[in-house]
Parts: sequence; structure tokens; C-alpha cells
Amino acid sequence: MSRSVYVFDAYGTLLDVHSAVARYQDVIGPQAERLSELWRSKQLEYTWVRTLMGAYQDFAHLTEQALDYAAVRCGGVSAQTRADLLNAYQTLNAYSDAAPCLRELRQRGARTGILSNGTPAMLQAAISAAGLTDLFDAVISVDALGIYKTAPVVYEQACQRFAVPAAELVFISSNRWDVAGASRFGCHSIWINRNGLADEYADCPPQAIYKTLDGLLSTPN
Ligand code: LAC
Repeated sequence: MSRSVYVFDAYGTLLDVHSAVARYQDVIGPQAERLSELWRSKQLEYTWVRTLMGAYQDFAHLTEQALDYAAVRCGGVSAQTRADLLNAYQTLNAYSDAAPCLRELRQRGARTGILSNGTPAMLQAAISAAGLTDLFDAVISVDALGIYKTAPVVYEQACQRFAVPAAELVFISSNRWDVAGASRFGCHSIWINRNGLADEYADCPPQAIYKTLDGLLSTPN
């Protein structure tokens, strides 16, 4: 392990964003998977559009708006299911590789953090529910900046917080567009390609690609 600061994206990387809908799959019915995909893609679209417009609204609000839009597209959900899904988003399941990876990195002397679009309240709730509370030196939200990934200032905030140059900060995300942003900023970026997706953003490549977070432990980064 040559580098010693590991900063993780939260949603999709440590936390399974589809676990909210999965809990209510039976109530939602055959549109459940489509609803979850649309919810996530709209949530992200809103972050990019609002960043370009310079019209920030926090991630909790965008998550709510994205669910409402996705629900309309999928035939609607009841007020109860809407409330259940938004609550579930506060307590998403962590991927099973998250806690062991974080524990092992810290055992080896690394400092670990989160850098996420999520609000501080969302992140604290999710980390606590997932049992990850003691595994981070810093949980960094874009909220104080009022701008979303992939604005360079977001990645800069993490480097400042850990007081390391970008090239010394290992940034890990399963979102390829997020990896592109970190790579472009100069971080040592690692793509966790959980779903075997095709590569993109060829001019902003990751330094390594692993299928799961276990890859971080087997190779020097
Ligand atoms: C995050 C979203 C992008 O945690 O997954 O920042």
C-alpha cells in the first residue's frame, strides 16, 4: 500500500442505492426495477443540471423530486410507499465488501473518508444504519460548497481536508463519471465496476479498475 488516504464515493460505491426499492418490490410490483433505475438517473441528472445552472438545491430535495418524477413515469406510488422509499433511502444497505475493506485499510494504517453529494444528515443516517460509523476519519459533503460532482472544487475539498496533494489521494467510486471527475482533478482514481459496464471518458481514465472493493486490498494503490 503506497498511498495512505482512501476517499470513497457513498451512493453506489459503499451504499446500494437500489436496496430502497428492493425492500418494497412486492408493493410496487413489476415496475420496481424501472422505478429504481429512473429514480437514480434523474437524481444524478438534477445534480448536473443544477450545477450547470448555478441553482443548487440539496441532495435530499433532489432525491425526493427524482422519486416523484420516476413514480409518475412508472404509474404512480401511494403516499405511504413514497414515504417508505424516502425513509429507506436514509438507511440503505451497505455492500457486503464495504465494512471489511474499510476495516482492513484502517488496520494497515490508512486514513479513510467519504466524499459525497449527499447532505451531512443523509450521510450520517446512512452510515450509522449500515454500521459504518467508526470507519471514517472524515465524511465530506458537497453541501457546504453548494455545488455537485464533478466540479473540481469538490475533489479539492477532500484533498484539503486530508492535507494531501491530489495525486496522493486515492478516490474510489463505482460511478464512472465520478471517477472521470476525480481523475481529471488529478486524484489517483479507482473505478469499482460492480456491473461489468463498458468503459467511457477515455481521456479521464482510472488508475485501476476492480470488480469489488476487495481489489483495493490485493494490489498496491
Ligand atoms: C455520491 C453520489 C454521486 O455519493 O453517488 O456522491
